[in-house]
Parts: sequence; structure tokens; C-alpha cells
Amino acid sequence: MIRLLSRLKANPLECWSAEFFREPIARVKLPFTDAVLVHDPVAIKRVLLDNAGNYRKDPIQRRILSTGLADGLLSVEGERWEVQRRTLAPLFARRTVSSFTEAMLSAADRLSDRWRGFAPDEAVDVTGELTVLTLNVLALTIFSDGIGGDFDDFRSAMNAYFGSIGRIDAFDLLGVPSFVPRFGRGRLLKTMAYFENVIDEIIDVRRCRLAAHDCGAAEDLLTLLLRALDPSTGRPMSLAEVRSNILTFLSAGHETTANTLAWSTFLLSQSPEWYAKVRDEADRELAGDRNGLLERLNVTRAVVEEALRLYPPIAALSRMSEQGDTLGGVKVKPRSLIVIAPYVLHRHESLWDRPDVFDPSRFLAEAKPRIARFAYLPFGAGPRTCIGASFALQEATIVLATLVQRFDMQLLPDAEVWPVQKITLRPAHGLPMRVAPRHVN
Ligand code: HEM
Repeated sequence: MIRLLSRLKANPLECWSAEFFREPIARVKLPFTDAVLVHDPVAIKRVLLDNAGNYRKDPIQRRILSTGLADGLLSVEGERWEVQRRTLAPLFARRTVSSFTEAMLSAADRLSDRWRGFAPDEAVDVTGELTVLTLNVLALTIFSDGIGGDFDDFRSAMNAYFGSIGRIDAFDLLGVPSFVPRFGRGRLLKTMAYFENVIDEIIDVRRCRLAAHDCGAAEDLLTLLLRALDPSTGRPMSLAEVRSNILTFLSAGHETTANTLAWSTFLLSQSPEWYAKVRDEADRELAGDRNGLLERLNVTRAVVEEALRLYPPIAALSRMSEQGDTLGGVKVKPRSLIVIAPYVLHRHESLWDRPDVFDPSRFLAEAKPRIARFAYLPFGAGPRTCIGASFALQEATIVLATLVQRFDMQLLPDAEVWPVQKITLRPAHGLPMRVAPRHVN
């Protein structure tokens, strides 16, 4: 048990041994509960969709994510979740997301300017660089007129916050009640107080501008959040819900997308053939009309989708069964922990041809419809599927195409690349690369 806990704390990914990539369903006995590991698309459909009411988000996940996010869409349950989901849906509708294209391109421009300042042989940690980029995209799309104070302070508070919430605490895994103090909790609460101040100030200013019908008030996610009304009751969100959802979007949307971009860059650095294909497409499409850009960047998008298959940022989803059930012939007791690991599912031998090989053509025109819906779950599925999926796909595709078009990105020869799961799946030692501006003849 101690060995399992210490492995789970260091890198849960390393607990998946070879047989899990062959078995559709496996049961593991834990001291306080049963865990059922489900990697059969039919059974997954039952958990996430057909019988989703029986499988709620589990208490461990909720406890790890609770601070600051408790009133946001990621954490709420039952009727509160239903109201928030339908109120927030228009913020992530295709047309709204499409209107963020310029913000995404402008963040890519800002990163390019920074990269042009590096010496040709300088080692750059691309994961860190892309994390700053995705935070900039969210800042530009949530509060497009700035955060009022110092953005660097905000960014370092954000890093401290993610560092603390991302920690898997042995107390949480053992079910120790939440009133027992956790290591690092004091620092987290201080950071939270800072955020609440900054965000409340931004909300106040924006509310005043909207109330005064100030036509200069930006049409960004914050304005949309403040205006959002529950379509059934016409009620707006409370201040706590607006604040918690801003933090939810920042938390759920920034490291996940940064890691998608980092893994895509890593995979392309290992495949000159696909690097050239993405570059050709970028040369052809980026100079043209910005409308429908995502639909035209087919090859780049396929690379992103393949990176999400091999390195899904959310490597495991978990649920708790309320009533007993049967999954793929296996009896599930009430209060069992259900684990669906996209990392395992996406490399499952019964579902994928050459599962460990990087081959973006799986996601191109004729091949894509052959992928079973519940065999590929980077964004989850069913009612609690990721609300930001199109936002993330659009951002990753546009930014990847821009960077590949402008830079030669090469992994340092002695770089050690290994995935580690710390809430999201990221390269354990970063991604040290050379990012030289493209040599145009
Ligand atoms: C590549 C990037 C992303 C990945 C891989 C990802 C993955 C996921 C997954 C797997 C879930 C479902 C979790 C579960 O069922 O337990 C989820 C939910 C969620 N995601 Fe994302 N996400 C990404 C980007 C974003 C972005 C950009 C945003 C918002 C700006 C966002 C906001 C959310 C929210 C609010 C939920 C909760 C939805 C609900 O419970 O109704 N995500 N995400």
C-alpha cells in the first residue's frame, strides 16, 4: 500500500502495467473500496452517458480541485451543474470561439517576438514558454482589456496556485476528512485571497461599465459571463459563481492546452515528414482569410488530435458508483471507484492499430470516421464532456501552425523526455529545444 501510494504521488502513469493495455475491464481491491478500471468503449458509454446519473465525480477528485473552484462548472453537481452548464454553453458556442481567432494569433505573435530574441544555440524550455502563451490567450479572451494590476504578479500567483492544487495528497487518497490540515494549505489560501481581490476588482469595473452602457466594454468571456442568464429562469450568476468560473476556465484551460501544444511540438520534432506537411499547410493557409481557418488547417489539426491520443492531458477520469451496476459482465458494487484512463484507452491493443506509433493520418478524412466514439476521449464524453474542447482545439491548431511556419524547433540531443501525470500529463523534465527562426532561401 505504501509503495502504491508513493508511486501514485510521484507519477500515477507508471502504475499502468502492460496487461491493462490488453484487458477491457479490470478490478483492483483497495483497502477502503473497490476500483474498477474500464477500457471497453461499450462499458465507458454506459458510465459516461447511458447511466451517467449513477456515476458522479468522485470525492477525491472534488477535494483536490475544491479550493477556489467549488462554485464553478468543473466541481458543481446535480441541479446546480445543470443550470450552470446551460447558462455557460453560449460562451463556448462555435461562433463565439471563432471570434477568438485574433486573440490566439496575437498571443502566437507575442511568443514569436520573444523567440526571435533567443541566441541560435540557446536551450529553451518549450513547455514553460507554451504555458505562458496559453495563459496569455485566456487573459486576452477573458479580460481582454487587461487585469488592471501587474500581469507578472498574476502569472506567478497562478503558478503557485496550480502548484498547490495539483498536488495529490496522501491524506486525500486515504479519505482523511478535509478539516485535517494539508501540507502547503496556508500558502494556497494566501494565493486565493490575492486572486479574489484581483478578480473582484476586475468584475466591479466591468459591471459599472456595462451598467453605464459603455460601448467600450469589451465583448470577451467576462462580459459574456456577467450577461449570461439561465435560459429557463432568466437568472444571472452570483458573484461567487462568476469568480469561480473565471478561475475554472483559467485552471481547466491553460495547462491542458499548453501540454497539448508541447507534446505536438515534441512529436513533430521527431518526425521531419509531418513537420514538413504542417509547414506546407501553414504556408498555404495562414496568409489567407481568417474565417474558417481551423477547418482549412486539416493536417495541423490531425497532428494535434494524434498528440491528444498519445499524451492526453487529462490522463485519467474517475467516478464513484452510487448504486450497483454491471459493466461488461463485471459486477460493480455501490461506492466503487471507476477509473477510465484515456492514456490506456488511446493505446489499447484491441482498439488501435500500432497503438504507440505517431501517425496523424488516423485523424484525416477517410480514416477518422472509423474511430469509435468511446475509444477516443481526450475531452471526456457525455453530459460532463469538456465545455472548452473547441476553444482548445482551435487554439492548439492555430498556434502550432504559426510556430511551425516560423521556427525550426529541434529537441536537444541529450534531452530526456518522459511523461509525468501531475493533474495534467506533461513532460517531466520540460522540453529543452532550440527554436531558430526559419531559414528562408
Ligand atoms: C486540450 C485542452 C483540454 C483538455 C484535454 C480538456 C479535458 C477535459 C476533460 C477530459 C474534461 C472532463 C472531465 C471529466 O469528465 O471528469 C473536461 C471538463 C471541463 N473542461 Fe476541459 N480540457 C481542455 C481545455 C479546456 C478549456 C480551454 C476550457 C475553458 C476555457 C476547459 C474547461 C472545462 C470545464 C469547465 C470542464 C467541466 C465541464 C462540466 O463538468 O460540465 N477545458 N476538460
